[in-house]
Amino acid sequence: MTDNNTTPASWRQATRLVRGATARSGFAETSEALFMTSGYVYESAEEAEAAFKGERKRFVYSRYANPTVSMFEQRLALLEGAACCHGTASGMAAVFAALACSVKAGDRVVASRALFGSCQYIIAEILPAWGVETVFVDGTNLDAWAAALKQPTRAVFLETPSNPTLEIIDIEAVCTLAHAAGARVVVDNVFATPMLQRPLALGADVVVYSATKHIDGQGRGLGGAVLTNDAPWDEEVLVPFLRNTGPALSPFNAWMLLKGLETLDVRVARHCANALYVAECLSARPKLVTRVLYPGLDSHPQRALAARQMAGGGTVVAFELAGGKDAAFKLLNGLKLIDISNNLGDAKSLITHPATTTHQRLTPEERAGIGIGDGLVRLSVGLEDAADLCEDLEQSLDALA
Ligand SMILES: Cc1ncc(COP(=O)(O)O)c(C=O)c1O
Repeated sequence: MTDNNTTPASWRQATRLVRGATARSGFAETSEALFMTSGYVYESAEEAEAAFKGERKRFVYSRYANPTVSMFEQRLALLEGAACCHGTASGMAAVFAALACSVKAGDRVVASRALFGSCQYIIAEILPAWGVETVFVDGTNLDAWAAALKQPTRAVFLETPSNPTLEIIDIEAVCTLAHAAGARVVVDNVFATPMLQRPLALGADVVVYSATKHIDGQGRGLGGAVLTNDAPWDEEVLVPFLRNTGPALSPFNAWMLLKGLETLDVRVARHCANALYVAECLSARPKLVTRVLYPGLDSHPQRALAARQMAGGGTVVAFELAGGKDAAFKLLNGLKLIDISNNLGDAKSLITHPATTTHQRLTPEERAGIGIGDGLVRLSVGLEDAADLCEDLEQSLDALA
């Protein structure tokens, strides 16, 4: 590979998204090369020895590093303003690595209650089985965070906006409280995307992504990333964990995600504009739709915080139907354009009923505690014409009425 992967510091975000960290091979290709290789060859046994001793910096095995994966990692790091970035096979691999590298038996974790189901599972089931005390708080309530963080705590985990109720957590305020308690703050930034929210700049120590969502953005494959500016932790704990446990991102998926990054800013802007349009359409049907949750709407309970912390309202709208589960199922089944799917961040609009899918593992009481009623529906707003999306929702709502 030619050594042309220096990215001028003056490049703005859109330029970084398209060209950041590009490392051309000797063939001078325009599009980033896909290095589908698990291993690398050495000129001599001495070179292999030097590589394994760390005396020579080079690729040795794709579980450790791969040129295509490195391009993706470096481009995402530039976007996030992070010193270190590691691609992972999925978002959950990123979440698990960040948490597993932050705690040991006897430690304490405080997390927001409204989390994606699998993140909740790691904190509620896996970590306690390993002797880690875990405490859940209402993420929107700073007094609850302050009370929970009165005791020494090793890690704080939060997701904002939350899945699926789009609660907003004050990252800066929680980081101040968490750092005073000695905790590393891990933020799941999936719903906001790196275009709308930069948790490291707000004080977070680690950011995790499911790149499966907006970074790919076209529903093609899985991926994830862990980013941090804590270089000693990265070098001494995270890198050895990733190398030895193997949640590596495949070079093919890294290549796909690199291509996704090129258009991330334009796609997220369009997703947000469409989501606001759809949220407004739904708000005009108050008899059937009793609650519309969208951080870009003035009716959102944390509108001011969302406006301060995020550069847009996001790509997801949640809404509550008056008729509970029956009405929610009828609405979903009556749609002709929007697909029923639990994925999100796709070019295609996707709708799901969290109580029976992503959050079905929780008890009804636990769901109620985080605002997931039987009539709640989550819509990941895609890149179609927003008027077509509203017409589809309208015709299904009309049939309900
Ligand atoms: C907020 C959030 N975090 C993490 C994940 C996990 O990502 P992945 O499916 O890529 O493992 C998801 C997936 O839906 C998510 O919505």
